[in-house]
Amino acid sequence: MYRTHNCGELRLSHLNQEVTLAGWVAISRDLGGLTFIDLRDRYGITQLVFDMDDLPELCERARRLGREFVIQASGTVRERASKNPNRPTGDIEIRVTRFEVLNAAKTPPFTIVDETDGGDDLRMKYRYLDLRRNAVQKNLLFRSNVAIETRKYLADQGFIEVETPNLIKSTPEGARDFVVPSRMNKGQFYALPQSPQTFKQILMVAGFDKYFQIVKCFRDEDLRADRQPEFTQIDCEMSFVHQEDILRTFEGLTKHLFRQTLGVELPDFPRMSYDDAMRLYGSDKPDLRFGMEFVELKAPGVESHVPEGFQVFDSAESVLAINAAGCAEYSRKQIDELTEWVKRPQIGAKGLVYVKYEADGSVKSSVDKFYSPEQLKGWLELAGAKPGDMLFVLSGEDEKTRKQLGELRLEMGNRLGLHKPDEFKPLWVVDFPLLEWDEDAERFFAMHHPFTSPKPEDIAKMESDDHRTLKGIRADAYDLVLNGVEIGGGSIRIHDRDLQSRNFRLLGFTPEEAEAQFGFLLGAFEFGAPPHGGIAFGFDRLCAVMNGANSIRDFIAFPKNNQGRDMMIDAPSGIKDAQLDELGIKVVVE
Ligand code: AMO
Repeated sequence: MYRTHNCGELRLSHLNQEVTLAGWVAISRDLGGLTFIDLRDRYGITQLVFDMDDLPELCERARRLGREFVIQASGTVRERASKNPNRPTGDIEIRVTRFEVLNAAKTPPFTIVDETDGGDDLRMKYRYLDLRRNAVQKNLLFRSNVAIETRKYLADQGFIEVETPNLIKSTPEGARDFVVPSRMNKGQFYALPQSPQTFKQILMVAGFDKYFQIVKCFRDEDLRADRQPEFTQIDCEMSFVHQEDILRTFEGLTKHLFRQTLGVELPDFPRMSYDDAMRLYGSDKPDLRFGMEFVELKAPGVESHVPEGFQVFDSAESVLAINAAGCAEYSRKQIDELTEWVKRPQIGAKGLVYVKYEADGSVKSSVDKFYSPEQLKGWLELAGAKPGDMLFVLSGEDEKTRKQLGELRLEMGNRLGLHKPDEFKPLWVVDFPLLEWDEDAERFFAMHHPFTSPKPEDIAKMESDDHRTLKGIRADAYDLVLNGVEIGGGSIRIHDRDLQSRNFRLLGFTPEEAEAQFGFLLGAFEFGAPPHGGIAFGFDRLCAVMNGANSIRDFIAFPKNNQGRDMMIDAPSGIKDAQLDELGIKVVVE
């Protein structure tokens, strides 16, 4: 037997027992007469002690053990003279009588502790060492628990797990595909799935009724903290359901996961229409951990509170404000800095107007040349501001201004410490538009995906040629948002061949193109497709948000860096000429 116990297990109740442990040397301290070693495995750390007076030869050998050596040690459990209350095994130590080096180790390039000195690239290159760190192991253990609890909940609800293929067909919709050349069909390519969307719909046509899969998806997108080129979805589909059934089932899943893995009871999830989310927060994924809702000083269809006089506001479609509580003390420098922040190309605002509600009740503003104190006070009242608060105002074209103010709202939330990592505010955003106009491509794209059903009452609008009417078509589509992060999205699907063809037509597909790309699905719809719908959770994102973490990389065992590289295996890489020849591919690098 390699070990009788693991390194996180022994307590005072084991006193005087003969035990054998195996693990990695985390730290070694030589105090002359005594040598202490912290032995680590994934369960914890146990202190080993070697006594010079007692067993000098053994102690000499122990002194030569380097960091990360793998050893097996036997001895007696005894009470520690100075206990470590921060460690579950901190009351005891092992007086070692025999040990063996199972494997030596080179000195690691960074320290394997919670607050490591290793930079990102180094840690990714030596990911196996990084993965030895407690903080990273904890995250992967958490991820494993979430996966296990997901399976338990869904199995309990009668879902079955079905695997769908990874070598599929490239389609131009959605993100860019990763493609794989086919040796047996030269000049042809598979694509890696961006999601199992069409397959899960086909499974519904086949009668599987309730499907799920914890599945890898691949998207060749620009990478960010919450995006990886390969990521994992909890992908689900159900037949004979309305939107309500899906929201209920997956609200249930989310609550179950929080309860079982964090011990947190979530309240019922509020719902908000896409229109309201954009109107109040300038975002389809509002962070509801704090308010700071938009105040419409001037906007289409709203009574204006902005009299003529200031050219910038006069010519703006919308003038919108947020109230930053307690910010009246901001200095000129802080306001200037925030103005520069909104003018950055990523935000794109032309400028920032402020209205300060001073503690003495007076008003000070960057636009007090153009508006009377009464008028400015009217804005403060409209915003529910109190003395000591400050309004930040942006203006311009309605949609753009809302998005810009949405970014500023998040930034202010951050600066004011309102993004509390252990507070959870889930939200269903519902009634998304079916279509989204792309200025550059001059065509409509599906806001969710081309298989999403319009709301039954909006189907007639699909015949219209008018952009406004088409933009106004609502879909039975929903997102689950948690603390400002899109955790999941889904929709009720089209299950009627004619309606699906009509939707493809709106998206600019000719009947031939639709047939070539999605003929299998259109064909399946002619053989008894049940009404169906579903959702997919971003599994990595869910794990990160549940832990108040920003980066999903911390919850992926072997993530890619921002250039899409795996630093450990050094991928992507070139391949041999012989392999290229076999595939009939010539590489021309420009
Ligand atoms: P969607 O494209 O919205 O829907 O994806 C579902 C969820 O997957 C997560 N996600 C990502 N996570 C990490 N890295 C990425 N690059 C990435 N892209 C998406 C998000 C997102 O909410 N087939 C549909 C679902 C359906 O309609 O049932 C789909 O894939 O959390």
